Amino acid sequence: MPFDVLWLSQADLDSLGLGMPEIMNAVEQGFACLGRGQAEMPAKIGIHPREDCFIHAMPCWLGGDLDRCGIKCVSGYPPNQKKGLPYITGVMVLIDPETGLTRSVMDAGWVTAWRTGAASGVYAKHFGNPASEVVSVIGLGVQGRVNLLAFKEVFPKIKQVRCFDPVAGQPERFLQDMQPRLPGAQFVVCDDVKSCVADADVVVTCTPIVEKPKRFLPRAWLKKDVLAVSVDYDSAFSEDVMAATPCFVCDNAGQYLWTRDQGVYFQNGYPDKGQVYADMGAICAGDKPGVRQGLRGAVLMGIASHDVMTASLAYDLAKAKGLGTVVRL
Ligand SMILES: NC(=O)c1ccc[n+]([C@@H]2O[C@H](COP(=O)([O-])OP(=O)(O)OC[C@H]3O[C@@H](n4cnc5c(N)ncnc54)[C@H](O)[C@@H]3O)[C@@H](O)[C@H]2O)c1
Repeated sequence: MPFDVLWLSQADLDSLGLGMPEIMNAVEQGFACLGRGQAEMPAKIGIHPREDCFIHAMPCWLGGDLDRCGIKCVSGYPPNQKKGLPYITGVMVLIDPETGLTRSVMDAGWVTAWRTGAASGVYAKHFGNPASEVVSVIGLGVQGRVNLLAFKEVFPKIKQVRCFDPVAGQPERFLQDMQPRLPGAQFVVCDDVKSCVADADVVVTCTPIVEKPKRFLPRAWLKKDVLAVSVDYDSAFSEDVMAATPCFVCDNAGQYLWTRDQGVYFQNGYPDKGQVYADMGAICAGDKPGVRQGLRGAVLMGIASHDVMTASLAYDLAKAKGLGTVVRL
């Protein structure tokens, strides 16, 4: 028997007018649901058809009062930058937990961009110093932008944004997009990573994930009190950053440790099971407190609960506004 599916393009999703605070709220609810043990979310699995490239499958059911589920099929291709194509692409499928019928298929690039920034924002909300004034962004692509938008929500006193990207044209494009979004902040384009992070209260790395990481950002370059956020696995921060903090956090301990066990990422000194202070599920469920001083480090790999929560928010709003294209399967 045929049934209807709501197709939501990137343009549809953009036109919803969803903002970072709403998406952060949704992502935080997903974290808390995981922390309460009301969710089913296996670690993301992947295939790697080209060097440093991945195609991941990310399913999740969030139970309890939420009762939402879905699966994302997402590709990450660093060589796409030279082809003028996006790094992150794919589709997000929202599924009715009652019947298993697909409710909606939407652009996973949009979902991934916003939910990843939002997750960093939720982490910063619990571990950041609200008085933070200097933010460093390493890697000035999509994630550089949305992470900065999320930090803007958490750190109202940002007065300087320090930026680094080695690819010609990226800093200029970043400034063009982001300066109007943070009109009170001074933007400084840096020639190297060391000078970019030297005075920073918050550092986020958004560079390509690679199988043989160079880990070009050591502890010695960072301030004593700093929030170090990795959205690029173990590609940028040295192990002496993430293993030195007494409050190493990941978005989901099960996924982080499973991925580490596969023997490719988070090897050679990255924190193991005994060094994880908490995952964000435990933090958002209220099982562990945040920490706001000293070296604080997080690896936010990206988890499927964010996708389900963000896609559900978009779907509900699109239905209410009559947006999108109904496709009969
Ligand atoms: N953790 C998550 O949930 C999550 C979600 C989405 C993307 N990501 C990851 O975030 C990273 C960025 O993704 P994106 O969508 O912003 O890609 P993007 O292509 O839009 O941006 C990547 C940027 O990194 C720059 N870059 C390349 N090498 C660099 C280096 N050595 N130092 C500094 N900058 C460098 C590129 O010029 C580009 O501007 C990727 O690793 C991606 O896999 C993580």
